[in-house]
Amino acid sequence: MDNRLFFPATERNRECIGEVLSTILLTRGFILEIGSGSGEHGVVFQKNFPEITWQSSDPELIHRNSISSWIEHEELNFQMPQPLNIDVEKIPWEIPSELMVSLQGIISINMIHIASWNCTTSLFNESGKLLNNGKFLMLYGPFKIDNKHISHSNELFDSSLKMQNKSWGVRDLREVSKEAAKNGFIEEKLIRMPAYNFSVIYRKVSL
Ligand SMILES: C[S@@+](CC[C@H](N)C(=O)[O-])C[C@H]1O[C@@H](n2cnc3c(N)ncnc32)[C@H](O)[C@@H]1O
Repeated sequence: MDNRLFFPATERNRECIGEVLSTILLTRGFILEIGSGSGEHGVVFQKNFPEITWQSSDPELIHRNSISSWIEHEELNFQMPQPLNIDVEKIPWEIPSELMVSLQGIISINMIHIASWNCTTSLFNESGKLLNNGKFLMLYGPFKIDNKHISHSNELFDSSLKMQNKSWGVRDLREVSKEAAKNGFIEEKLIRMPAYNFSVIYRKVSL
């Protein structure tokens, strides 16, 4: 059965996110994606970076089914594992042992503003335990800088998120980076992306 979902934003941003990923030294091993959604990012990045193994995850069954369908549609069954059921707040995350031993990085795209603040703290907490020193955690999405929106459209987006769920909202980068620091990460690179988004690369420096 074809359960593929199509997220318009994913189609717009996958190329520029792929460019950022290509600047990070991706060696053999696993990349764990948190909140993978439709799975469209995963299959494109798996094809673009064949040396790594892209491990998608999502807490929603409809999304995991879509990811599986995308893997099948793109004929990646022998390269890409089936998605994991990871809800960042349910710790410890259930991760296969082969992934634990060769985890190169964790990435989460457009997740932390569409989830409670606890999801951000859990994301860093659990990633801090799973990633060895030198490994990375990358976030992509809109952020406030010095607690200010960088565009009117982001401000409107923030209000619409809060109307859907008052625990959601565009996060202030400084607050996010404080959580990162508590868990042994430094903010290594902040990259301005199209449509008033950022990529942020955190590097694990201590346990
Ligand atoms: C806006 S979608 C982004 C999906 C995908 N990353 C993309 O950019 O197309 C947000 C995703 O975060 C996931 N999500 C929400 N709460 C989560 C949680 N507590 N733990 C992990 N993922 C979560 C949702 O299921 C959804 O797939």
